[in-house]
Amino acid sequence: MTQAKESSPKRMVARAGAALSGSIAIPGDKSISHRALIFGSQRLGTLEITNLLGSEDVHATAAALCQCGITIRRDGNSALVEGRGIGGLQEPSGVLDMGNSGTAARLLMGLLAPYAFNSFFTGDHSLCKRPMKRALTPLSLSGMQYTAASGDRLPLVIRGVTPALPIDYTSPVASAQVKSAVLLAGLTIRGTTRLVEPIPTRDHTERMARHFGFALREQTTSDGLRQIEVDGWQQPAPGDSALGIPGDPSSAAFPAVAALITPGSDLTLTDICINPHRIGLYHWLEKMGARIEWKNHREAAGEPIADLTIVHSELKGLEIPAEAAPSMIDEYPILAVAAAFAHGTTVMHGLDELRVKESDRLQAVHDGLRANGVEARIDGDSLIVEGAGGRVPGGGCVTTHYDHRIAMAFLVMGLAADKQVEVDDTRAIATSFPNFTALMHDIGAQISPERRRSSRRAPERRLVLAIDGPAASGKGTLAWKLSRHLNLPYLDTGKLYRAVGLRLIAAGEDPHDKQAAIAAAKAITEQDMHDPALRQEKVGQAASVISAMPEVRQILLDYQRDFAAARRGAILDGRDIGTVVCPEADIKIFMTASVETRARRRHAQLQGEGFEVVYESVLSGLKERDERDSARASAPLKPAEDAIEIDTTDMNIDEVFDFILDKLKERNTAAA
Ligand code: S3P
Repeated sequence: MTQAKESSPKRMVARAGAALSGSIAIPGDKSISHRALIFGSQRLGTLEITNLLGSEDVHATAAALCQCGITIRRDGNSALVEGRGIGGLQEPSGVLDMGNSGTAARLLMGLLAPYAFNSFFTGDHSLCKRPMKRALTPLSLSGMQYTAASGDRLPLVIRGVTPALPIDYTSPVASAQVKSAVLLAGLTIRGTTRLVEPIPTRDHTERMARHFGFALREQTTSDGLRQIEVDGWQQPAPGDSALGIPGDPSSAAFPAVAALITPGSDLTLTDICINPHRIGLYHWLEKMGARIEWKNHREAAGEPIADLTIVHSELKGLEIPAEAAPSMIDEYPILAVAAAFAHGTTVMHGLDELRVKESDRLQAVHDGLRANGVEARIDGDSLIVEGAGGRVPGGGCVTTHYDHRIAMAFLVMGLAADKQVEVDDTRAIATSFPNFTALMHDIGAQISPERRRSSRRAPERRLVLAIDGPAASGKGTLAWKLSRHLNLPYLDTGKLYRAVGLRLIAAGEDPHDKQAAIAAAKAITEQDMHDPALRQEKVGQAASVISAMPEVRQILLDYQRDFAAARRGAILDGRDIGTVVCPEADIKIFMTASVETRARRRHAQLQGEGFEVVYESVLSGLKERDERDSARASAPLKPAEDAIEIDTTDMNIDEVFDFILDKLKERNTAAA
């Protein structure tokens, strides 16, 4: 598994500003760029590709082809590919690293499946979580065998057989990647390979095959489905030796929606691929009221192209059926942003596939909307967005899960929201649209890096801090202060249990009902952690019941460990962080204070927040909680053996903070 190229997340913020205007050329289409390189390798002679997308995803395909003996010379957005014809690939010179790209992975598996050698594939953290069985199953019909990580995921190795058998497959998923994998394999398999797709998907592979002289047959089955056949080992004459890639309609969608939602905007996007299987978004936006002018229709390299002029428009919500999904599968994040600005409700059906994209996009979009004050909910495979009628509150920070389209969609939201929108990490944008920010600046958008005051003091090495202690020992305040100072993400794990409690209370369930608690724990998302209702007393009581259930602890343990592992480091506070959750933490702190001191602090805090509370009842409540915490069978409260124990009875928070900073310095000096 490979890691993201740059090590630290790149936060950015987008703010509302002037109207967006001008005329921009959108970079080459990602899907077509992958295929241009692949077909360049399969034809004979040199192919010159212009306007090739210079993104990390496309680079993954180019690098893999080079590892299979193909010479590719890159010069800016142009490339010269020396084709070796059908059957001309060599055993890869090493592991093929697909980075973040599902398209690269699945298409190359298809291309290499008929070869009787081992091809090893891997990818980044996100790609290694995505399902590969959908491509491996049909490719296995050729005789190809594979060994994959559990769940049929990357890393994996495939080994074809000679002679490979023609594939005859009806795909249960509407996926252009699966279809293309099978058709590309079919090019190198003697006999006829046949693929039937449940709903027509983007047909760039078919168009490009024909463009380079490969014969394909298409027909409609008796069930009304689209069937494509290809005969293997055709070797057409080289034909066209130059190919220009049209602009990517999926990338164009971001400035297009930005113009629609920003008052006064008037924007032209030139040379956009308007393949009917790719422009569902634009047609549905038109139905929502978008004013889009389609000009200069023409054709290049077998694809229809046009220029689009988009002006600010009042949008209205509507219902979008599941059948629309394949023609706009990558556009739902930005469509959801458009829906947030519309008047009325937008319902988008058939979004199951979004769960297996670069992130669980359905959840990520939902969470991003809610973080910015937009009412949204998921119902089965549908997303429901309550439009804010042009006034989206904004002000949230969106977790992108290293997903380029989530990052771009929410930056676009910030361009027209009342408050700025922050995106936690924009590095993934380079996978599909490397000059996104520069182009957006060109049209007047205000997007800039978020420089946090404390980032200059960011620790250079990965650091995990575990802070445990009884209720009101001051661990939360300390953890929060340290997280600001060290610029490390902070998880208050107590809130996780409260969030489960809140879900149960909100659903009218009994916190003692173990099955309900397990289900609620599984459903927890980031968003749950920001609900102000978490502070309610009844939620705290429910949390205390739930936290004694080992099954619930186990589910939340995974959440906590992911939090501690996935980033540059983290600070977690709770009761079993040093002992159970992160026994490998770099620094473990166990805070105590006499129960009377803690009761005094908690009492003062609650009074400060306007709660009518009596000191004695706070004291007895804490005593009870202490007893429960240290007596419970599952992860009782106790310091880890190597924890730094601090009794804060006679210390204020600044003294504790300085004490810990000294400890950190000592540790850094020792490490140096
Ligand atoms: C692509 C197909 C789609 C799309 C992806 C590119 C392609 O994936 O989401 O960004 O180039 O074939 P699926 O085939 O998984 O739907």
